[in-house]
Amino acid sequence: MSTVTTIWVPKDAGALSLGAEAVAAALATGAKARGHELRIRRNGSRGLYWLEPLIEVETATGRVAYGPVTAADVPKLLEEGLLEGAPHVLRLGDIAKHEWLASQQRLTGARLGLVDPADLDDYVAQGGYAGLNVALALAPADIVRAITDSGLRGRGGAAFPTGIKWQTVHDQKTDRKYIACNADEGDSGTFSDRMIMEGDPFSLIEGMTIAALAVGATQGYIYLRVEYPHAARALARALDVARVRGYLGRNLRDSGHDFDIAVRLGAGAYICGEETSMLESLEGRRGEVRVRPPLPAIKGLFGQPTVVNNVITLASVPLILARGATFYRDFGTGKSRGTIPLQLAGNVKRGGLVERAFGLTVRELVEGYGGGSASGRPVRAVQIGGPLGAYLPESQFDTPLDYEALAAKNALLGHGGVVVFDDTVDMAKMARYALEFCAVESCGKCTPCRIGSSRGVELVDRILKSTNGTRAADLALLDELCDTMFNGSLCGLGGMTPFPVRSALTHFRSDFERGS
Ligand SMILES: Cc1cc2nc3c(=O)[nH]c(=O)nc-3n(C[C@H](O)[C@H](O)[C@H](O)COP(=O)(O)O)c2cc1C
Ligand code: SF4
Repeated sequence: MSTVTTIWVPKDAGALSLGAEAVAAALATGAKARGHELRIRRNGSRGLYWLEPLIEVETATGRVAYGPVTAADVPKLLEEGLLEGAPHVLRLGDIAKHEWLASQQRLTGARLGLVDPADLDDYVAQGGYAGLNVALALAPADIVRAITDSGLRGRGGAAFPTGIKWQTVHDQKTDRKYIACNADEGDSGTFSDRMIMEGDPFSLIEGMTIAALAVGATQGYIYLRVEYPHAARALARALDVARVRGYLGRNLRDSGHDFDIAVRLGAGAYICGEETSMLESLEGRRGEVRVRPPLPAIKGLFGQPTVVNNVITLASVPLILARGATFYRDFGTGKSRGTIPLQLAGNVKRGGLVERAFGLTVRELVEGYGGGSASGRPVRAVQIGGPLGAYLPESQFDTPLDYEALAAKNALLGHGGVVVFDDTVDMAKMARYALEFCAVESCGKCTPCRIGSSRGVELVDRILKSTNGTRAADLALLDELCDTMFNGSLCGLGGMTPFPVRSALTHFRSDFERGS
């Protein structure tokens, strides 16, 4: 009697871009040719991207990983006993015991790579929907209290306390309220939202459902960036299953509550990640920032009270309900509670997802997890928090990755993206790039951003080309322009562009004085 062997091949966009689909095809053909029965299951990524495509075979002693595997490796792997978990140069063993993963504190991303994203029963077997079950037995105000007590702050960038936002929406007396999930994930070097949506979409759906119960919303929207087609497919599948199985829709889980979720695709503008632009876009208009007040929590989508939260914020909610606010709160430091999925990218040897309690230092992340630059050259700078985040020089690498510690260095954590640069980087050009990015992506509503960013690009060009002794005056003017943008912009795009520019000016001034 032939036995069926289960093998996991990621369907994560990162793994796919490295050839995971060809690996799956080669496994199917190779196993068939050898008369083996294979069950290929598709999971998300574990987040060790330098080892992708990372496949895992289920053996009597547990899952055994191999990676990075190419389609060309497959015939020899099969010949040498892949399906029995045999030794091979690509064999990684039990990947959960790999130091890179074992040293992490995976809470929000606990099921990534483990669960089948299309299988609701698998999700439930791995602790899924335990949070919703708790929430269904609580009064809405008590759900809000649990989130407030957990210390959860928004992971989209602004780090606003989630409990306060939910309380505001909860307190509004209207018939219609919305949950709007911000899945625009526009920051450079970030991918944790995508990993959750592709690898564990039910956790987001469950988090949104709990948010709906807490504030009394009946409809949710996921605003997804159009560049994430795999996430769109994974979400569509999971939403269908959740609906069929009674976890969404009318009278969900026989609770007397109605809640459903629809996905809306953005059109690729960075500003549509800013929450009020996102609401404009969701309503079918051009993504332009709204003046606040009123806050979206009071007058948001279609003029109704709306919870706007990031994917990671919402996907962290089920665990808080299931394990309790104190459990979550016990991770972290100061006012930065819980864990943060850090995304390590750029010129780094071992890039990927590192979920740890707040407080890990930049050095521990970049040198420890990352193993230094991919080029082998010294690391000169890291940019934290996306294209509008500050650049930190090596002398600041002992800064802990938490909201307050970074703010004290005139930096920000944002969505947790960390991009590494080696010593060949020209920081004056990076400052110019930040201003150019702002000019291209500006929604145009306010002058400091719309005009200031373009004048900033011209100013950096002049500084770099200066031959007539005007450089010092232009450097002072650039600093003044940063002041105007920081204080006078209507939203964070114009308001935060000074962070990369000023950090480059402060820590890497010689790059501006060298000329181009
Ligand atoms: C220019 C700009 C772009 C933003 N892009 C995103 C984004 O892509 N995803 C996101 O979740 N938040 C983004 N934000 C933050 C949102 O405005 C908002 O604070 C967030 O979605 C609220 O959710 P949270 O409290 O769960 O973080 C952006 C903000 C600005 C100013
Ligand atoms: S800062 Fe820029 S993106 Fe924000 S409202 Fe003003 S013009 Fe629009």
